[in-house]
Amino acid sequence: MTSTSQRRAALVTGASRGIGALIAQRFAAAGWDLTLAARSTGPLEELAGRLATDYGSTVRPVASDMAQEDQLRHLAQAHSDSFGRLDALVLNAGMGAIGPFADFPPRRLDKLFAVNLRSAYVLIQQTLPLLRRTAAEHGTARVIAVSSMTGIAGEPLNSAYGATKAALTSLCETLNTEESEGGVLATAVCPGYVATDMTAPLADQVATELMIDPVDVAEVAVSLTRLGGSAVIPQIVMTRPGPHLWRA
Ligand SMILES: NC(=O)c1ccc[n+]([C@@H]2O[C@H](COP(=O)([O-])OP(=O)(O)OC[C@H]3O[C@@H](n4cnc5c(N)ncnc54)[C@H](OP(=O)(O)O)[C@@H]3O)[C@@H](O)[C@H]2O)c1
Repeated sequence: MTSTSQRRAALVTGASRGIGALIAQRFAAAGWDLTLAARSTGPLEELAGRLATDYGSTVRPVASDMAQEDQLRHLAQAHSDSFGRLDALVLNAGMGAIGPFADFPPRRLDKLFAVNLRSAYVLIQQTLPLLRRTAAEHGTARVIAVSSMTGIAGEPLNSAYGATKAALTSLCETLNTEESEGGVLATAVCPGYVATDMTAPLADQVATELMIDPVDVAEVAVSLTRLGGSAVIPQIVMTRPGPHLWRA
């Protein structure tokens, strides 16, 4: 570790596009420094450069595949070396896959679990000493996981994806029971359909303009960092307007 930054610092996964890129932009606008992770180096470096120019943030892009444990360890170390503090760990990287349960390939389930859940588990473990230290010195440190409505209530075709998100939401709950007294607070943000690349293939079933705006998900995620540590918020459910409160 070089030195501890005076500015708050976040590590955002899945920052190359969609919700993650918007979360990164909002942190930079609020004066934070950032480590950004995703596989696509081009978009990641472009975003890092833009945020540094527009907001004066120090932004470190670290190309990482969430399915590779050695890359997760490297990512956590790279953030620690760069900033020496971690005020928010945003576990946003994720992949979707739908299909009838009856013939959903278990190999796809394994991949979904690796990217959507196991990466979060390992990254929290790897960064927990830094999260604890940041909380001790500055009051709070937050884990913000972008989970899903499909992890709150089951939906057809989402047996695998929904299970990974239910597990991610559960992980946030348990983390609070063990760590919140020390100031490390976890929240699972659980939206229904959000208009991003991930849901583009569903546009013939749900019009894009009827989906949640990714800007609103980013705002909710970053707004958690404006709170003190007096309340634990284990999950936030975000649903689309209309009669189906608990459906994606
Ligand atoms: N869109 C929705 O309706 C919706 C609803 C509820 C929850 N969510 C969740 O919101 C999060 C963000 O999704 P989004 O809608 O913004 O989707 P998106 O536009 O497809 O973005 C997904 C992000 O995750 C990264 N990613 C995917 N696989 C990865 C891997 N193996 N290693 C590293 N990074 C990986 C992608 O970067 P690279 O491809 O460059 O690696 C990208 O930055 C996900 O966790 C998703 O499950 C989405």
